[in-house]
Amino acid sequence: MSASADFRFPPSFLFGCATAAHQVEGGTSNDWTRWEGLPGHIRDGSVSGVACDHYSRYEQDLELLHELGQNAYRYSVEWSRIEPVEGRFDHDALRHYRDVARKCHELGMTPIVTLHHFTFPQWLADLGGLEATSLPWFFARFASLCTAFFGDQVEYWVTVNEPVILVLLGYLGGYWPPGAQSMMAARRALKGALAMHAAGAAAIHAVAEETGHSAKISIAHHERRLLPATSSVLDHVAAATPDYVLNRWFLRSIQTGRVLPPVGHGERMVGLAGSMDYLGLNWYTNERVVFDPRRRDMLGVRTVLNPDTPVSDYGWAILPFDLTDILVDLWDLFGLEIMITENGVADSDDHLRPDFIVQHLRAVARAMEGGVPVLGYMHWSSMDNFEWAEGYSRKFGLMEVDRSTMERRLRPSARVYESICRTREIPAVQARASASA
Ligand code: NOJ
Repeated sequence: MSASADFRFPPSFLFGCATAAHQVEGGTSNDWTRWEGLPGHIRDGSVSGVACDHYSRYEQDLELLHELGQNAYRYSVEWSRIEPVEGRFDHDALRHYRDVARKCHELGMTPIVTLHHFTFPQWLADLGGLEATSLPWFFARFASLCTAFFGDQVEYWVTVNEPVILVLLGYLGGYWPPGAQSMMAARRALKGALAMHAAGAAAIHAVAEETGHSAKISIAHHERRLLPATSSVLDHVAAATPDYVLNRWFLRSIQTGRVLPPVGHGERMVGLAGSMDYLGLNWYTNERVVFDPRRRDMLGVRTVLNPDTPVSDYGWAILPFDLTDILVDLWDLFGLEIMITENGVADSDDHLRPDFIVQHLRAVARAMEGGVPVLGYMHWSSMDNFEWAEGYSRKFGLMEVDRSTMERRLRPSARVYESICRTREIPAVQARASASA
């Protein structure tokens, strides 16, 4: 099934890019900065360092994205800049993030603001990060402050980015800070992330109501279906629990207002019910898996690749058709308007990205024609940036960044995306444009 040839994205549809503070700003100092400094943690031995120097170049960067026809921008605020020491708040940092939102409005772009995108201030990491008992309280205070300071500029909020991924990689797999490899720690961290979201959402809603502003809240939910690769009963049984934990546990808990098994016993959590107004979706790929008891970090499954499926530089299968089903299912299950808060591909020479964008937006169009309310699409990412444990080795950008001069160079895919943003139509045949900044 294909989207009809005359499909047009409505004028209200948001087209943009997504970034995260630690990955693009440069000069951040948080739990990741310390982690990167220790040997063996980052694949290419790099450190985030100056990143893309986006903290000082955000105005030019936003102007460039605006010139590319985009009308939205998702960015994150760096908690460690705003509260470098517990209880001490930096007003220059708050002003900075308000200025970014203001700049967006000046350019006719809708800001989407993430409060927590994987990094903790060091003082909070020292208290246990997602396991810290006081985390919900600290996060609520931080969220209130941000909403009070620039809530008049921001309607769409993301409390926590990909909480389950953070737990799996940081508390079970040991690949990210704090480097824990414990099922008990992972369970505590999942509950902590849920409580953090609930407290943050309640704080944003309360301040927005008090000040008379509209605030719509979501997490950025990472969906990555784990489907059994064979018809073996073992593979089916093995895939079910990790698939549920990764893709449904968090959202279902929010939907029911309860901490569901296998993390809780169905007990109610204060502030959880009604804490999501839309559904932010980060989607990159699905996986076919087989039972493998050695993969504790993957909850007992291992991915197998179909040799016929194209893959990104990350080795992730490119499966645009799956996106339609995911959007339809999420709408059926949760009944919330969906914002695609991330979708993109690691592709250093841009041979996949132009078609990737066209095909994925076609999948979005198909879902919308089927009645799914999709609010927007944020491409990950505007420019190559610090890809966590992979360092600078993965290139997700519509723009390449020269790491010695910080010059941004448009890749051909940037022009392909531009033409969709401008015409609101998906080209029948993929057009490869040549581009230079
Ligand atoms: C999702 C994460 O939110 C983002 O930080 C990361 O860079 C992309 N996926 C690509 O892996």
